Amino acid sequence: MYRTHTCGELRIENKGQQVTLAGWVQKARKLGGMTFIDLRDRYGITQLVVEADAPAELVEVATSLGREYVIQVQGEVVERQAKNAKMPTGDIEIKVCGIRVLNKSVTPPFTIEDNSDGGDDLRMKFRYLDLRRNPLREALMLRHKIAHEVRNYLDAKGFMEIETPYLIKSTPEGARDFVVPSRMNPGQFYALPQSPQTFKQLLMVAGYDRYFQIVRCFRDEDLRADRQPEFTQIDCEMSFVEQEDVLNTFEGMMRTLFKNVLDVEIPNPLPRMSWYDAMDKYGSDKPDIRFGMEIHEITDAAKGKGFGVLDGAAYIGAIAVPGAAEYTRKQVDELTEWVKRPQVGAKGLIYIRVNADGSYKSSIDKFYGAEDLAKIAAAAEAKAGDLILVMSGDNKRKVQTMLGVLRIEMGNRLGLRDPKVFAPLWIVDFPLLEWDDETQRFYAMHHPFTAPKPEHEKWFYSNAKEDLERVCANAYDFVLNGTELGGGSIRIHDAEMQKRMFEVLGIGPEEAEYKFGFIIHAFQFGAPPHGGLAFGFDRVCALFGGSDSIRDYIAFPKNNQGRDMMIDSPSAIDQSQLDELFLDLRAPQA
Ligand code: AMO
Repeated sequence: MYRTHTCGELRIENKGQQVTLAGWVQKARKLGGMTFIDLRDRYGITQLVVEADAPAELVEVATSLGREYVIQVQGEVVERQAKNAKMPTGDIEIKVCGIRVLNKSVTPPFTIEDNSDGGDDLRMKFRYLDLRRNPLREALMLRHKIAHEVRNYLDAKGFMEIETPYLIKSTPEGARDFVVPSRMNPGQFYALPQSPQTFKQLLMVAGYDRYFQIVRCFRDEDLRADRQPEFTQIDCEMSFVEQEDVLNTFEGMMRTLFKNVLDVEIPNPLPRMSWYDAMDKYGSDKPDIRFGMEIHEITDAAKGKGFGVLDGAAYIGAIAVPGAAEYTRKQVDELTEWVKRPQVGAKGLIYIRVNADGSYKSSIDKFYGAEDLAKIAAAAEAKAGDLILVMSGDNKRKVQTMLGVLRIEMGNRLGLRDPKVFAPLWIVDFPLLEWDDETQRFYAMHHPFTAPKPEHEKWFYSNAKEDLERVCANAYDFVLNGTELGGGSIRIHDAEMQKRMFEVLGIGPEEAEYKFGFIIHAFQFGAPPHGGLAFGFDRVCALFGGSDSIRDYIAFPKNNQGRDMMIDSPSAIDQSQLDELFLDLRAPQA
């Protein structure tokens, strides 16, 4: 037997017991002839002590141990002199009578402790060592626990977990596909699923009623802290449901997760906000409602004073930043530079200080008197002590989006975004379609299987752009603290309506048949009304863990260039493999 207990298990009640432990040497130190060893495994750390008067061979083995050696020890559980209240095993230590080295280790490239000295790249390269560290172990444990709770909840609600294939045909979720060449079908490619969207709908046609899957998805898109090229969804679909049924079911799931995993109660029912309100007030379809600082339209209050920038704008919006009237000129200049960065894209920033005594100081004093500024301040709902930040432009949504980004930045700067505060909500009533000026065509806001609201169908079948623009969908997103955690919709289940959707999206009948023939045909065989959604599982884990970055909640993630630093992938393949696949490579263009 390698061990009688784990390294996280022993307590003062075990005092006097003879035990055998196995694990990794986190560190060993000598103190007045005694050797102290921190022995670590997945469950915790136990302190070992080899006393000065122990047999010489034992002392010799103890002093020869290096970091990360794998050892087995025998000894007696004794009460510690200097207790460590921070460690669950901190009341005891093991008085060692035997050590067996099970395996040596070369010196690790960074210290494997809670606060490591290793840089990001190094820790990614040696991920298996990083995974020995507590913070990562806890993150993966949290992930495991959430998955377990999800399965319990959905199982109890009658959902079946069904796997769908990874080698498929392109699914339209709006990102680029990862493709896999087929050796047996030269010149042809599989696509890895961006989501199991079409398959779960086919499962509804097949009558499986309530499906879920904790499933890997693949998207070749630009990476950020909350995006990985392969990530995991909690993917769900239900038949014979309306939007209300889906929202209730999954609100219930999230409420259970919050309660059972974090012991946090979330509001019941959750707030709901229309997409239009979210854009108008927060400049984002994933608003962080932990703090106010809402966007206000000030177009009427601010126009007509002879200041060209504002007089020529179609929309003028503002946020009032609480307590920021004291910002120095330098701070305001820095903010102006910040919004001019390409990531935000503003041309500039106008500010109005509402001083504590009620007077104003602004960057537009030349055109606006105190009375004019008071009018703007009233429209922006600013109080004494606030700093009003103003942006304007031709496109209302663009200006609102920029103000939304600025709002989040100010929320960060003012410490209003505490990761331990949770403010979930549903965003509902999304537009069905989004017009793109550049390509002069409509795109599906969610995906092309989303149904228009029944009361908007008349516009859906109209050919006027204004009509199509006002069609809303029964689509919904679950948003938490400024992150889109999940999204879904009620689907089209009628073959003719699906064809119309492809037509609206400029996908001709031949292309539709080639890409989605299988689903259009399936809809002819009795497709039930259905709908569903998918949560980003990695994002749920990260936010529950209090982090914005999903990387630490994935055992083996990719870096921001989409590379796995540990296995060094992607990498070139052999000429013979290329030949087998009938592939020729071209040198990449600079
Ligand atoms: P959607 O594309 O909104 O919907 O994806 C659902 C959720 O998946 C998460 N997500 C990601 N997480 C990490 N890295 C990524 N690259 C990434 N992309 C998306 C987000 C998102 O909310 N088939 C539909 C769902 C449906 O209609 O049922 C879908 O995939 O948290």
